[in-house]
Amino acid sequence: MKSVFFTGATGGLGQVCVQALSGRGWQVFAAGTNEARLAQLGQLPHVVPVRMDVCSQQSVEDARDAVLQHTDRLDVVVNFAGISAFARLVEGQALPILQRNLDINLMGTARVNAVMLPLLERASGRIVNCSSSVGWTTAQPFAGAYTASKRALEGYNDSLRRELMFVSIPVIKLQFGAYNTDMVGQLEAQFDQTLRQTTRYQAMLQRLWPLMLAVLHSSRDPREVVPVVVKALESPRPRRQYRLGTGWALSLLELLPEGGVDRLYRLLGRLAQGRRKTT
Ligand SMILES: NC(=O)c1ccc[n+]([C@@H]2O[C@H](COP(=O)([O-])OP(=O)(O)OC[C@H]3O[C@@H](n4cnc5c(N)ncnc54)[C@H](OP(=O)(O)O)[C@@H]3O)[C@@H](O)[C@H]2O)c1
Repeated sequence: MKSVFFTGATGGLGQVCVQALSGRGWQVFAAGTNEARLAQLGQLPHVVPVRMDVCSQQSVEDARDAVLQHTDRLDVVVNFAGISAFARLVEGQALPILQRNLDINLMGTARVNAVMLPLLERASGRIVNCSSSVGWTTAQPFAGAYTASKRALEGYNDSLRRELMFVSIPVIKLQFGAYNTDMVGQLEAQFDQTLRQTTRYQAMLQRLWPLMLAVLHSSRDPREVVPVVVKALESPRPRRQYRLGTGWALSLLELLPEGGVDRLYRLLGRLAQGRRKTT
């Protein structure tokens, strides 16, 4: 039986993937911190729940020891643990938010891969890292912490791929657009909080609100990612990266040069009519 260590297993994307992998006969070590969701996943065939905080070296080493009680090899490590933020880069809690995004999205992934590598080497396994469409598309305002963390993850991923090719461990990158999970659901509350707290951007944020709603409402069904994740895990010759579900707004912005995107935001600041209805 093939085995996978799957972080972020308790999340919206992770849960549907773990269910699918369990159904396909994989042994899944499903990692997260949410006890209730871990217990639910533990009801699935061949799924072993593992409580693990990716920010703690000790916790990740304990997770490895938990895996070693079942097997000394892993065919795949999947890194889905992640957070995002709708937040400013220079006001309020900007720096702790940036730090937390880097700690979980970048350092958490790096920590898990380093600790699990010996188990992967025994099985000639592979690593799957979850980036995002923000990892490659033009950067947006108020998404800086998440964007910085995923772009850093892209650099980490690509260097790691070129290091681990010398020991025959493929490293694969996933770049998803917006899917309807807790992460995307929380953006609305984060937007409200930012609007309440900002001293500089209130008018601009109110103008951005209709665009924000359009992006939230166009987020897709998490089950869409399953076939791509299965391909990344099972294909005998996996691609370096799999890109899926990039939203229409980001895709349109990709048609413009960087200066054009700046001009568009300036124009939005001056002209946009949309106002958030206050209740
Ligand atoms: N949803 C999207 O639109 C989208 C788009 C592109 C990329 N992605 C990426 O896909 C991955 C999964 O996102 P999602 O949409 O499934 O988000 P989600 O529903 O919010 O789930 C986030 C997952 O990350 C885990 N996590 C967060 N902090 C952790 C920590 N310190 N230690 C261990 N686990 C931690 C959570 O586990 P616990 O709750 O158990 O702590 C949960 O399983 C993320 O890397 C995200 O950046 C998502």
